[in-house]
Amino acid sequence: MAADGGRAPMKAHKLWGGRFGAAPTAAFDALNNSIGVDFRLWPYDIRLSKAWAMALWGANVLTLDESKLLERGLDAVAARLDSGELPLASDEDVHTLIDRLLHEETGDVASKLHTGRSRNDQVATATRLWTMDACQHLDSALRGLEQVMIDQATTIETALMPSYTHMQRAIPVFGAHWLLSHFWPLERDRARLKATHRSAAVLPLGSGAVAGCAYPISRVLLQGTLGFDAMSTNSIDAVSDRDFIAELLFAATMIGTHLSRLAEDLIIYGSSEFGFVQFGEGYTSGSSMMPQKRNPDALELARGSAARMLGDLVSLLATLKGLPTSYNKDLQDDKRTLFDATDTLLLVLPAVAGALAECTFRKERMKAALSSTMMATDLADYLVRKGVTFRDAHGAVGRLVRESEASGVEMQLLPFSSFTAAHALFSDDVSDALSPEQSVMQREVEGATGPVAVGAQLDAARIALLPPPTPRSGNAVV
Ligand code: ARG
Repeated sequence: MAADGGRAPMKAHKLWGGRFGAAPTAAFDALNNSIGVDFRLWPYDIRLSKAWAMALWGANVLTLDESKLLERGLDAVAARLDSGELPLASDEDVHTLIDRLLHEETGDVASKLHTGRSRNDQVATATRLWTMDACQHLDSALRGLEQVMIDQATTIETALMPSYTHMQRAIPVFGAHWLLSHFWPLERDRARLKATHRSAAVLPLGSGAVAGCAYPISRVLLQGTLGFDAMSTNSIDAVSDRDFIAELLFAATMIGTHLSRLAEDLIIYGSSEFGFVQFGEGYTSGSSMMPQKRNPDALELARGSAARMLGDLVSLLATLKGLPTSYNKDLQDDKRTLFDATDTLLLVLPAVAGALAECTFRKERMKAALSSTMMATDLADYLVRKGVTFRDAHGAVGRLVRESEASGVEMQLLPFSSFTAAHALFSDDVSDALSPEQSVMQREVEGATGPVAVGAQLDAARIALLPPPTPRSGNAVV
């Protein structure tokens, strides 16, 4: 390559350049042009540009005719892009592209649209509008998965299975209780997305490059027209505030993490060793070598993609941390992370929902995995109900577990004499305390695995998915 990086032809449509004697190098353009990433912002840039044309009329910068001409021109540009017109390699970014097409549509009046605004407040506005929509799309994809969880939880509402801590058998639970343990994290994720939407819904337009707009445009009108909840209060902050992207990336990373844990459970439970779950055929793949394989690829890809979303979050935070005040070009890369994490989740969420929907739960295998030592806590509680301290009861049951392990005899098959030797207060009703059915029945506090508590939990999950009530009309007589 030439030492000067190679000069691009002068003819590219540019939003700047007057003070430059020569065109940028091709090497600089290759680095600087962001059209490959930000092209998808075009519907939002059109929207805000139409609102800006109106605002300029309101500020007496444009005549009504000029403003209308620009609005119609922007509609024509939108129609061209909508029907598949692609950018030129020489378009620096989406704002330059729309400006070029608008010149083609309206002629010279297009040169007036950029009065009082900068790409700094423009890109911040378009990215916020995009993010507000993304929050909504992610929310409905999450709801789709949550609905599948509820449907599947209903099929295993009272199927007994082991719960685990440290991946060691712990205490029997109902299948629904286990599956819904993956539902509530997604509810928290939805709350985070709602908060992210609120952070994004603050209008930066009118902040100019950094110091605000010198024309008396109505920001109130811009806010209302574009559907923002509020407007920024400091123009320096407004052009560089990317907190809303960091928030979306954190929410995305948490969603990814939650999906990863669900995927991990299903993958383990789907192994031949566990056999609690039988995978379907729509979201799995075979092996090119081993004819017997049905691999849970969708779940593995979900688990893997959580790592990339974490990378996106770390990448943005590292960028923000090093920046001096206001807009700096480093911020151009914010969209790579935002789009990557959102696109990834919008692929992963329906796939996980589909993979879960086609799982068959094998209740007999789930129940067969229960062992009587899992009722050790219930056995200790049995003694506590007879007046023994929990510490003594724990010790007595521990001795029984040791005997069961040493002799290789399941606890409920040990001779009654072993029980009385472990503690004198064991009597013949002890076999009840060794039943997994009894074990779950006793756990009826809120949030526990008892049948009533799990029924209430399922109801709460169904209620969480009901559409929000539509606001009552202000004129309604109550
Ligand atoms: N493409 C730029 C971005 O995405 C637009 C803002 C450019 N601002 C500037 N002063 N060069 O951040």
